[in-house]
Amino acid sequence: SLPEVLGRFAPDCSSLPQTVFNDPEVLDAELARIFTRSWLFLAHESEVAVSGDYVTRRMGRDQVIVSRGEDGQIRVMRNACTHRGTLLCKATLGNTSHFMCPYHAWTFDNTGRLRGVPEARPAYGTFDKSSRDLRRARTEVYQGLVFATWDDDAEPLADFLGDFAWYLDALVGGDGAAWEVAGPPQRYTIKANWKLSCENFGGDGYHVPYAHRAPIEGGLFGTEDTGTGGPSGRVVWTPQGHTARVGYHPAGSGIPAYHGYPDEQRAEFAAKAKPEVFAVLENSDVLHGNVFPNLSFIQTVITYTGDEVEPTAFLALRLALPISPTETEMLNFALVPRNAPDAWKQKSVLACVRTHGAAAGLFESDDVDNFTAVTFTGDGAIAARTDLDYSMGARLPRPEPDDWPGPGESVPHDHSEYTHRAYYTTWLRHLREDA
Ligand code: FES
Ligand code: FE
Repeated sequence: SLPEVLGRFAPDCSSLPQTVFNDPEVLDAELARIFTRSWLFLAHESEVAVSGDYVTRRMGRDQVIVSRGEDGQIRVMRNACTHRGTLLCKATLGNTSHFMCPYHAWTFDNTGRLRGVPEARPAYGTFDKSSRDLRRARTEVYQGLVFATWDDDAEPLADFLGDFAWYLDALVGGDGAAWEVAGPPQRYTIKANWKLSCENFGGDGYHVPYAHRAPIEGGLFGTEDTGTGGPSGRVVWTPQGHTARVGYHPAGSGIPAYHGYPDEQRAEFAAKAKPEVFAVLENSDVLHGNVFPNLSFIQTVITYTGDEVEPTAFLALRLALPISPTETEMLNFALVPRNAPDAWKQKSVLACVRTHGAAAGLFESDDVDNFTAVTFTGDGAIAARTDLDYSMGARLPRPEPDDWPGPGESVPHDHSEYTHRAYYTTWLRHLREDA
């Protein structure tokens, strides 16, 4: 039962039951207590660039439309007809002023208002259309990232992100508007619990040299040790359960860092970003993390793209959407600076999909293989009584704070599980709240 599963967590989340990755009751509670209350990432602003643009997405398992109205506002509304519930919009993206239901042709404008009901007068007499508008979720945008929540009492997005906004600033060089999504996100389904990707991208430096040994030894990062995968990085976390891992190597370390971005774009970021934020873009060879609950990101640079040896930076956003306790739909968005030359954008997208794309990326296949295996080994009578170990770093003295400029809590060692514990501490707090 859910109380029994939650009761097995160590107080600091250094140990937790494996059934959190396959128990249907756990997913039901997550959907009710996390996915209806948290701010959830849905889309990048550039996907709905002009009025009428829309994409269809999910919040947890609820279908939604993200659309930009005539007024320029981005809104998020349920993608289900308020008459008898069929899927209103079947396309994944497009541009329209109205959505007409395929069942009985009720028609909604792209702000969610019910505008047309066939035979309204003879069939219904009087009909208060406004009582059947699409339910809207509160929507806010930060650095080009569109978030929404069903909770009208939720704190503003800025408070939900808290200090972690600094890391999102660093991710986009201080200027979210400078980026665009290169084509629609790749979508693929993995047979693994949704949290496994989030906890991994949230800060698991420990798996990199082992799980990803083949592409690293194959020279993806060049022949020199770039620091990626070594314990020289750091992990950071905030009280909201947002976490990251940063391979920060101040000038002079000889690593390629993000120098794979075209010079013009670096100059743009340097001009706009706060110096300490730009320094992260300039001096890190990897920044990956997770915004609680399910938006992960990774920015890094690979040296070998398969065609040529040249440092190429890329930025990917990845959304883990639960389908069932043991199945997850992944959306992988490749972001590129919108002013970069087209040929460079193509290289960056290739670097992205060849490492973290649609289940066949070199890193993605290594990772997903493990996420899938954690999920299926959990399916057994003994497995149901088994707890997993998340204690790395917990029994060691906490390293002294150093001169890292970023906010939040941080340790200058990325072979640790501080971020995993921070993620599950927030998760547990939500799951223990009343539904
Ligand atoms: Fe949409 Fe009937 S279900 S109009
Ligand atoms: Fe990995």
